[in-house]
Amino acid sequence: MPSLLPITDETIARAAATLRSGELVAFPTETVYGLGADATNDTAVAKIFEAKARPSFNPLIVHCADTESAKRFVDFSAQAEALAAQFWPGAISFILPRRKDCRLSLLVSAGLPTVAIRVPAHKGARQLLRAAGIPVAAPSANRSGRISPTTAAHVEADLGDRVALILDGGACSLGVESTVVDLTVSPPALLRPGGVTQEALEAIIGEALASPTADPEAPKSPGMLSSHYAPSLPVRLNTPSAQPGEALLGFGPSPNADLNLSEAEDLTEAAANLFAHLHQLDRPRWSGIAIMPIPEEGLGRAINDRLRRAAAPRD
Ligand code: TXA
Ligand code: MG
Repeated sequence: MPSLLPITDETIARAAATLRSGELVAFPTETVYGLGADATNDTAVAKIFEAKARPSFNPLIVHCADTESAKRFVDFSAQAEALAAQFWPGAISFILPRRKDCRLSLLVSAGLPTVAIRVPAHKGARQLLRAAGIPVAAPSANRSGRISPTTAAHVEADLGDRVALILDGGACSLGVESTVVDLTVSPPALLRPGGVTQEALEAIIGEALASPTADPEAPKSPGMLSSHYAPSLPVRLNTPSAQPGEALLGFGPSPNADLNLSEAEDLTEAAANLFAHLHQLDRPRWSGIAIMPIPEEGLGRAINDRLRRAAAPRD
């Protein structure tokens, strides 16, 4: 069990080094505790999904020390500038397009062309982000299906055996998650109500926010929209080999695979490689992507969930 470490210069330095080495660190924000990993490291991000035991990949919020750092990863619009000036650091996450040169793991976006990005206000969180010098992907630090933790003790009870270190910053002052607002659509859409109110947002935006439920076509959760995950090539699952013209995405020992999710049959490694490998194989030089079977256990469930969406019939 990791001990709960009170926040001091020394524990911040230790937590920052732990993050940089690719391990998981739970840390406080003013909303809820986050389960953090280096957002530029595919394997570290995969460990988040493993620890949470989520049956599918949901995109994650990327935390930055300040607005300048956030701009290295996403394209900022004038509207994003105005909202960041007003609400950051704070309890709001903006969905913005990934920059072309974005170094963030594709897994934080779960295959989407966008990133949820946030500059939290909690003093300990900001110290950690500055000391780490890397963007930190963090969902709420609870196992899938459980409630979000607002004290370090909650995190320890739920995930204590799955994190390297828990920073104890006391009880979260807000206790509800950040507001998630999609700035890639006009008017912006409120994807999740949270710490920053709709009224406060609308006052800055100058118009009413779109509600994601107002449009019956809009997905409630991006993870539910199959086409977001679909490569342009047809995908064939659970096959030991490729047909002529197809690329073969391997799992386990496979001399014929064009790329391999994990030769060692390690599901964390496979999750870390999933989106990057699908992107690489989604090229016109092939007629389709054949994918070897992935066991339906642990992280394999999330991988298979995404692959089934990728292989689902298209319109
Ligand atoms: O207060 C919070 O937001 C906490 C702290 C740790 O920052 N984090 C949190 O993360 O609640 P999580 O993973 O439990 O919720 C993130 C929400 C999910 O509803 C997810 O679908 C949405 O943000 N989200 C993340 N990236 C997205 C994207 N690229 N597009 C649309 N929605 C996204
Ligand atoms: Mg959550």
